[in-house]
Amino acid sequence: MAIQVAIDGPAGAGKSTVARSVARQLQVAYVDTGAIYRSLTWEALRRGVSLDSERTLGDLAVELKIEFIPNDEQQKVWVRGEDLTEAIRMPVISANVAKVAAYPLVRERLLAIQRTLAEGAGGVVMDGRDIGTRIMPHADVKVFLTASAGVRAKRRYDELVEQGHALELPQVLEELEDRDRTDQSRQVAPLRPAADAVVLDTSPLSVEEVCAMVVALCEIRSRNKEGR
Ligand code: DC
Repeated sequence: MAIQVAIDGPAGAGKSTVARSVARQLQVAYVDTGAIYRSLTWEALRRGVSLDSERTLGDLAVELKIEFIPNDEQQKVWVRGEDLTEAIRMPVISANVAKVAAYPLVRERLLAIQRTLAEGAGGVVMDGRDIGTRIMPHADVKVFLTASAGVRAKRRYDELVEQGHALELPQVLEELEDRDRTDQSRQVAPLRPAADAVVLDTSPLSVEEVCAMVVALCEIRSRNKEGR
Protein backbone atom coordinates (compact mmCIF):
# COMPACT_ATOMS: atom_id res chain seq x y z
CA MET A 1 0.00 0.00 0.00
CA ALA A 2 1.75 3.24 -1.11
CA ILE A 3 0.40 5.30 1.71
CA GLN A 4 1.92 8.06 3.83
CA VAL A 5 0.97 7.89 7.50
CA ALA A 6 1.98 10.60 10.00
CA ILE A 7 1.89 9.74 13.70
CA ASP A 8 2.60 12.60 16.09
CA GLY A 9 2.20 13.18 19.80
CA PRO A 10 4.02 13.81 23.07
CA ALA A 11 6.67 11.54 24.65
CA GLY A 12 5.33 8.24 25.93
CA ALA A 13 2.03 8.32 24.00
CA GLY A 14 2.99 5.03 22.34
CA LYS A 15 3.88 6.49 18.94
CA SER A 16 6.85 4.27 18.09
CA THR A 17 5.21 1.01 19.22
CA VAL A 18 2.07 1.84 17.26
CA ALA A 19 3.92 3.20 14.21
CA ARG A 20 6.19 0.15 14.01
CA SER A 21 3.29 -2.28 14.26
CA VAL A 22 1.12 -0.37 11.74
CA ALA A 23 4.04 -0.25 9.28
CA ARG A 24 4.50 -3.99 9.63
CA GLN A 25 0.79 -4.66 9.08
CA LEU A 26 0.66 -2.39 6.02
CA GLN A 27 4.05 -3.70 4.80
CA VAL A 28 5.55 -0.24 4.39
CA ALA A 29 8.68 1.40 5.80
CA TYR A 30 8.81 2.82 9.33
CA VAL A 31 10.79 5.97 10.17
CA ASP A 32 11.31 7.08 13.78
CA THR A 33 12.22 10.77 13.43
CA GLY A 34 12.88 11.14 17.18
CA ALA A 35 15.87 8.82 16.58
CA ILE A 36 17.32 11.44 14.20
CA TYR A 37 17.24 14.18 16.89
CA ARG A 38 18.51 11.67 19.46
CA SER A 39 21.42 10.61 17.22
CA LEU A 40 22.41 14.24 16.70
CA THR A 41 22.32 14.82 20.49
CA TRP A 42 24.43 11.70 21.05
CA GLU A 43 26.97 12.75 18.43
CA ALA A 44 27.18 16.27 19.95
CA LEU A 45 27.75 14.92 23.47
CA ARG A 46 30.31 12.45 22.20
CA ARG A 47 32.28 15.18 20.45
CA GLY A 48 31.97 17.56 23.37
CA VAL A 49 30.03 20.10 21.26
CA SER A 50 28.25 22.72 23.37
CA LEU A 51 24.49 22.23 23.34
CA ASP A 52 24.22 26.03 23.57
CA SER A 53 25.70 26.50 20.09
CA GLU A 54 22.92 26.41 17.50
CA ARG A 55 25.36 26.96 14.63
CA THR A 56 27.71 24.11 15.59
CA LEU A 57 24.77 21.76 16.10
CA GLY A 58 23.35 22.85 12.74
CA ASP A 59 26.67 22.04 11.05
CA LEU A 60 26.79 18.67 12.80
CA ALA A 61 23.24 17.97 11.53
CA VAL A 62 24.43 18.32 7.92
CA GLU A 63 27.16 15.73 8.51
CA LEU A 64 24.90 13.26 10.30
CA LYS A 65 24.76 10.09 8.25
CA ILE A 66 21.88 8.15 9.70
CA GLU A 67 20.59 4.81 8.44
CA PHE A 68 17.51 2.90 9.52
CA ILE A 69 17.98 -0.83 9.20
CA PRO A 70 14.83 -2.94 9.43
CA ASN A 71 15.04 -5.70 12.00
CA ASP A 72 12.45 -8.27 13.11
CA GLU A 73 11.82 -6.94 16.59
CA GLN A 74 13.08 -3.42 16.41
CA GLN A 75 14.47 -1.05 13.83
CA LYS A 76 18.23 -0.51 14.12
CA VAL A 77 19.68 3.00 13.99
CA TRP A 78 23.20 3.30 12.60
CA VAL A 79 25.31 6.44 12.45
CA ARG A 80 28.65 6.32 10.61
CA GLY A 81 28.73 2.55 10.68
CA GLU A 82 27.99 2.35 14.40
CA ASP A 83 24.85 0.78 15.92
CA LEU A 84 23.35 3.48 18.19
CA THR A 85 19.94 1.84 18.71
CA GLU A 86 20.41 1.40 22.47
CA ALA A 87 22.72 4.35 23.15
CA ILE A 88 20.24 6.98 21.93
CA ARG A 89 17.62 5.82 24.48
CA MET A 90 19.90 6.58 27.43
CA PRO A 91 18.43 9.00 30.02
CA VAL A 92 21.22 11.54 29.34
CA ILE A 93 20.02 11.77 25.73
CA SER A 94 16.34 12.02 26.74
CA ALA A 95 17.23 14.84 29.14
CA ASN A 96 19.02 16.90 26.44
CA VAL A 97 17.31 16.11 23.13
CA ALA A 98 14.40 18.59 23.42
CA LYS A 99 16.90 21.45 23.72
CA VAL A 100 18.69 20.34 20.55
CA ALA A 101 15.38 19.81 18.70
CA ALA A 102 14.22 23.34 19.59
CA TYR A 103 16.87 25.09 17.44
CA PRO A 104 15.38 26.38 14.17
CA LEU A 105 18.68 25.77 12.28
CA VAL A 106 18.83 22.14 13.45
CA ARG A 107 15.20 21.55 12.38
CA GLU A 108 15.81 23.20 9.02
CA ARG A 109 18.90 21.07 8.36
CA LEU A 110 17.17 17.83 9.36
CA LEU A 111 14.11 18.56 7.20
CA ALA A 112 15.70 17.31 3.97
CA ILE A 113 16.74 13.94 5.50
CA GLN A 114 13.19 13.41 6.74
CA ARG A 115 11.52 14.43 3.47
CA THR A 116 13.82 12.06 1.55
CA LEU A 117 12.90 9.22 3.90
CA ALA A 118 9.19 10.12 3.54
CA GLU A 119 9.38 9.92 -0.24
CA GLY A 120 10.92 6.43 -0.18
CA ALA A 121 9.11 4.10 -2.57
CA GLY A 122 6.17 2.02 -1.41
CA GLY A 123 4.72 4.06 1.45
CA VAL A 124 5.82 5.00 4.94
CA VAL A 125 4.68 5.32 8.53
CA MET A 126 6.61 8.14 10.16
CA ASP A 127 6.42 9.18 13.80
CA GLY A 128 7.53 12.37 15.52
CA ARG A 129 6.19 15.75 16.60
CA ASP A 130 5.75 17.73 13.36
CA ILE A 131 5.20 15.02 10.76
CA GLY A 132 1.59 15.96 9.99
CA THR A 133 2.19 19.71 10.27
CA ARG A 134 5.54 20.08 8.50
CA ILE A 135 7.38 16.99 7.24
CA MET A 136 4.45 15.33 5.40
CA PRO A 137 1.73 18.02 5.29
CA HIS A 138 -0.06 16.00 2.57
CA ALA A 139 0.07 12.64 4.37
CA ASP A 140 -2.90 10.36 3.59
CA VAL A 141 -3.53 9.66 7.27
CA LYS A 142 -2.57 11.85 10.22
CA VAL A 143 -2.96 10.62 13.76
CA PHE A 144 -2.10 12.54 16.93
CA LEU A 145 -1.68 10.12 19.82
CA THR A 146 -1.90 11.43 23.34
CA ALA A 147 -2.45 10.19 26.92
CA SER A 148 -2.37 11.75 30.38
CA ALA A 149 1.14 12.66 31.65
CA GLY A 150 0.80 10.08 34.46
CA VAL A 151 0.00 7.23 32.04
CA ARG A 152 2.79 8.26 29.68
CA ALA A 153 5.37 8.50 32.47
CA LYS A 154 4.41 5.04 33.78
CA ARG A 155 4.78 3.52 30.29
CA ARG A 156 8.21 5.13 29.85
CA TYR A 157 9.26 4.07 33.36
CA ASP A 158 8.29 0.42 32.74
CA GLU A 159 10.21 0.45 29.45
CA LEU A 160 13.37 1.90 31.05
CA VAL A 161 13.25 -0.47 34.04
CA GLU A 162 12.93 -3.39 31.64
CA GLN A 163 16.08 -2.16 29.88
CA GLY A 164 17.89 -2.21 33.25
CA HIS A 165 17.92 1.53 34.05
CA ALA A 166 17.58 2.44 37.75
CA LEU A 167 15.12 5.35 38.02
CA GLU A 168 12.21 6.60 40.12
CA LEU A 169 8.77 7.22 38.61
CA PRO A 170 8.53 10.87 39.84
CA GLN A 171 11.86 11.62 38.10
CA VAL A 172 10.56 10.13 34.83
CA LEU A 173 7.33 12.17 35.16
CA GLU A 174 9.23 15.38 35.82
CA GLU A 175 11.55 14.89 32.82
CA LEU A 176 8.63 14.01 30.57
CA GLU A 177 6.71 17.13 31.60
CA ASP A 178 9.84 19.24 31.05
CA ARG A 179 10.24 17.77 27.57
CA ASP A 180 6.53 18.37 26.78
CA ARG A 181 6.92 22.02 27.78
CA THR A 182 10.01 22.50 25.59
CA ASP A 183 8.42 20.68 22.61
CA GLN A 184 5.16 22.65 22.89
CA SER A 185 6.66 26.08 23.42
CA ARG A 186 9.44 26.13 20.82
CA GLN A 187 9.14 28.70 18.04
CA VAL A 188 9.57 26.38 15.07
CA ALA A 189 7.19 23.44 14.53
CA PRO A 190 5.87 23.22 18.09
CA LEU A 191 4.14 20.00 19.12
CA ARG A 192 0.47 20.30 18.15
CA PRO A 193 -2.01 18.25 16.13
CA ALA A 194 -2.39 19.12 12.42
CA ALA A 195 -5.79 20.65 11.66
CA ASP A 196 -6.75 17.49 9.75
CA ALA A 197 -5.32 14.95 12.26
CA VAL A 198 -7.41 12.39 14.13
CA VAL A 199 -6.64 12.92 17.83
CA LEU A 200 -6.68 9.70 19.86
CA ASP A 201 -6.38 9.63 23.67
CA THR A 202 -4.74 6.25 24.25
CA SER A 203 -4.96 6.32 28.09
CA PRO A 204 -7.71 3.67 28.30
CA LEU A 205 -6.65 1.71 25.20
CA SER A 206 -4.28 -1.20 24.64
CA VAL A 207 -1.57 -1.01 21.98
CA GLU A 208 -3.54 -3.54 19.90
CA GLU A 209 -6.67 -1.40 20.06
CA VAL A 210 -4.81 1.73 18.97
CA CYS A 211 -3.07 -0.13 16.12
CA ALA A 212 -6.39 -1.58 14.93
CA MET A 213 -7.90 1.92 14.80
CA VAL A 214 -4.97 3.37 12.86
CA VAL A 215 -4.90 0.45 10.39
CA ALA A 216 -8.67 0.85 9.88
CA LEU A 217 -8.17 4.57 9.11
CA CYS A 218 -5.46 3.67 6.58
CA GLU A 219 -7.65 1.09 4.88
CA ILE A 220 -10.58 3.51 4.60
CA ARG A 221 -8.30 6.22 3.22
CA SER A 222 -6.68 3.89 0.75
CA ARG A 223 -10.08 2.60 -0.48
CA ASN A 224 -11.24 6.21 -0.95
CA LYS A 225 -8.07 7.00 -2.92
CA GLU A 226 -8.54 3.99 -5.19
CA GLY A 227 -12.21 4.85 -5.75
CA ARG A 228 -11.47 8.43 -6.80
O1 DC B 1 10.00 10.63 20.17
P1 DC B 1 11.30 10.82 20.97
O2 DC B 1 11.09 10.83 22.44
O3 DC B 1 12.36 9.87 20.56
O4 DC B 1 11.78 12.29 20.54
C1 DC B 1 12.97 12.85 21.03
C2 DC B 1 12.92 14.38 21.00
O5 DC B 1 13.00 14.85 19.66
C3 DC B 1 11.69 15.02 21.63
O6 DC B 1 12.07 15.94 22.63
C4 DC B 1 11.03 15.78 20.54
C5 DC B 1 12.01 15.83 19.42
N1 DC B 1 11.38 15.55 18.13
C6 DC B 1 10.98 16.63 17.40
O7 DC B 1 11.11 17.77 17.84
N2 DC B 1 10.42 16.43 16.16
C7 DC B 1 10.25 15.19 15.68
N3 DC B 1 9.72 15.02 14.46
C8 DC B 1 10.65 14.07 16.45
C9 DC B 1 11.20 14.29 17.69
